[in-house]
Amino acid sequence: MLRRHLLKLSAGVPAVFSALSSLGAFGRQDETTRRPIVVSTWDHGQAANEAAWKILVNNGRAVDSAEAGVRVTEADPSVSTVGFGGFPDRDGKVTLDACIQDETGNCGSVAFLQHVKHPVSVARKVMEETPHVMLVGEGALQFALEQGFKKENLLTEKARKAWDAWLEKAEYKPVINIENHDTIGLLALDAQGRMGGACTTSGAAFKMHGRVGDSPLIGAGLFVDGEVGAACATGMGELVIKTVGSHLVVELMYQGHSPRSACEQAVRRIAAKLPDYKDFQVGFLALNRKGQYGAFCIQPGFTYAVRSGELNRLSRSDSLL
Ligand code: GLY
Repeated sequence: MLRRHLLKLSAGVPAVFSALSSLGAFGRQDETTRRPIVVSTWDHGQAANEAAWKILVNNGRAVDSAEAGVRVTEADPSVSTVGFGGFPDRDGKVTLDACIQDETGNCGSVAFLQHVKHPVSVARKVMEETPHVMLVGEGALQFALEQGFKKENLLTEKARKAWDAWLEKAEYKPVINIENHDTIGLLALDAQGRMGGACTTSGAAFKMHGRVGDSPLIGAGLFVDGEVGAACATGMGELVIKTVGSHLVVELMYQGHSPRSACEQAVRRIAAKLPDYKDFQVGFLALNRKGQYGAFCIQPGFTYAVRSGELNRLSRSDSLL
């Protein structure tokens, strides 16, 4: 009896799979592989991709390109959501979160780090020079200084003025699609087929002192599986942490979803589980081992940058709302 049921069930699997495919559940999967390729979040991803591309086009390693790419955004004082120039917390302190992961799953992370302009490079040192994955706060700073990083003031005049203005009401209200940029997440596939990714942010503007978002959390803000693909998240970190968003996207790609479809399913998971999702933005970006990429977000307005061969463009993600 059981055997008959199992046989019936397995006979139905190809039909169900083909029906789902024709409905577009898994997206279009063509067999061509596009590499090297780099994708990253928001308008500021274009400058980051350019730096990453220089490494990829010279046969460099994906993880190196990911670090080099996001360092551009970390150093840019005009970007108020990442690194130097990032808006401070409600106490006027700039606190940074970042992580990095290579094609083998090796990873490093720092959170609640102050005074160091390139948290992604400290995260890389955590990955390569310690037996740990994550260092936070004073411990992360102490480690960074031991590794030769410089202690700097990261609060720019523009960010200080924004904080002063915020203090007048001191109302904590996340701004959706703040100036078309937010966390930078960057995913790369190199010429040899290795994947890597990095993610870095100053977190939610005027957050509570000590708040850490999704960006330094492997599986939430970033996840790389060298056999499957990579994903990163941007937007309101609390929603991403609650659903372990980037790992979910990669897991969905492992199950056969295209990058675009995996991102959409992860956004739909947030909508199904978190009743206040309409008040926030979350965007996912994914890249698989074939160099196929895709994105999806809650609110319209999330952009992502793509660089591969002749391709160099900024695209607008589809959204749930
Ligand atoms: N996604 C950045 C943060 O919530 O901190």
